[in-house]
Amino acid sequence: MRTTVGIIGAGPAGLLLARLLHNAGIDSVVLESRDRAYVERRQRAGILEQGTADVLRAAGAGQRMDREGLRHDGIELRFDRRRHRVDFPALTGGRSVMVYAQTEVCKDLIALQLAEGGPLLFEAEALAVEDAATDAPRVRFRHQGREDVLECEYVVGCDGFWGVARKAIPAELTQVFERTYPFGWLGILADVPPSHNELVYARHDRGFALLSMRSPSVSRLYLQVPDGTDAGAWSDEEIWDELERRFETADDWRLERGPITQKSVTPMRSYVHEPMRHGRLFLAGDAAHIVPPTGAKGLNLAVGDVVTFARALTHRKATGSPELLDAYSETCLRRIWQAERFSYDMTTLLHRAPGTTGFEDRLQLARLDRIASSRAAETDLAEGYTGFPFG
Ligand code: FAD
Ligand code: DHB
Repeated sequence: MRTTVGIIGAGPAGLLLARLLHNAGIDSVVLESRDRAYVERRQRAGILEQGTADVLRAAGAGQRMDREGLRHDGIELRFDRRRHRVDFPALTGGRSVMVYAQTEVCKDLIALQLAEGGPLLFEAEALAVEDAATDAPRVRFRHQGREDVLECEYVVGCDGFWGVARKAIPAELTQVFERTYPFGWLGILADVPPSHNELVYARHDRGFALLSMRSPSVSRLYLQVPDGTDAGAWSDEEIWDELERRFETADDWRLERGPITQKSVTPMRSYVHEPMRHGRLFLAGDAAHIVPPTGAKGLNLAVGDVVTFARALTHRKATGSPELLDAYSETCLRRIWQAERFSYDMTTLLHRAPGTTGFEDRLQLARLDRIASSRAAETDLAEGYTGFPFG
């Protein structure tokens, strides 16, 4: 099998890249190790930055998002039983975000790819990327019980944190920057209308909690839990009781309960692999970097990477110049480090690590109070949340 761009992974990065290349008249093949139902059901991100929503629209993948997605103009910070709303458009010159689940983004892109795009092979597991530093890189993969080879001009590893693409970059050329956090998130989906019309990020002495949503009738909620927590160890009632405590306010706000339909625990880490390119192998999305979910940045970073790659390859095809491809890693990393910083700041602002001292608690509350009382501090948060510009 032969193609111009071999794409490993059909998460948001790989699927959007295939679409962008298709629109630019460049052919690709996508290899995805899981089956379609798995990719379409995996519960993950929920917030699209304005720039991400704009890219999906321009790619012809925004119709259902514009019909069913919920535009949000702010978030609420909750601390010390107080509530503070951050108004995004007022602070950023009109920017907002979109609540539209990653599952739905993937469904829309898969449907488009199967209808109009190049091959998208499910249950096709990439085994290795070979000859990355030559003009003819190859992906060895297994599909329907047989091993095969995809001959490419370029390979893009969009295969997430646990993928194989990153391994093809020699260790001696690589630097990894990493931090793990001593807590994770227990996430639930519940069949109950969200108890607030915008997301609520709560800092509490018992730990962080987040109220989000998937639709006007489905809530998505998260609780900070100790590292290594088993989701099954929490009964539904314990989860609701704990959420209620952490969201408590001085006014009469109430958390509505409903049937919990899904529970899972996500570990938290910050990770950056540099560089993101070796020869004709490029890494995009979680394959190259991870942020803790507090800033809602992971999917949006993946989108920025593939937009940068598609633009660079289109430039190469149109002009013969490799300059944008050569600048790929540096261009992406600038935005990625801003998102790493923002996600780290949001995480340390709102979570309570084991062993936290009274002094650190007071500092955390002072940082929140500063955001609630200084337009400059609040603007910094609003700019970061609604998104850093693509390179
Ligand atoms: P992935 O979605 O991981 O896709 C990689 C794909 O590659 C997968 O389909 C995988 O099956 C496939 N694959 C792996 N190995 C191989 C192989 N060897 N061969 C073939 N295929 C392979 N981000 C946000 O922006 N906003 C949020 O609100 C947000 N919330 C989150 C909440 C949670 C609980 C979690 C876990 C994440 C959240 N994120 C959020 C992060 C976001 O989900 C990820 O950053 C995003 O999925 C990255 O997309 P990707 O395409 O790079 O990788
Ligand atoms: C969601 C996830 C996040 O990490 C976040 O910061 C906001 C919302 C969500 O899944 O809805």
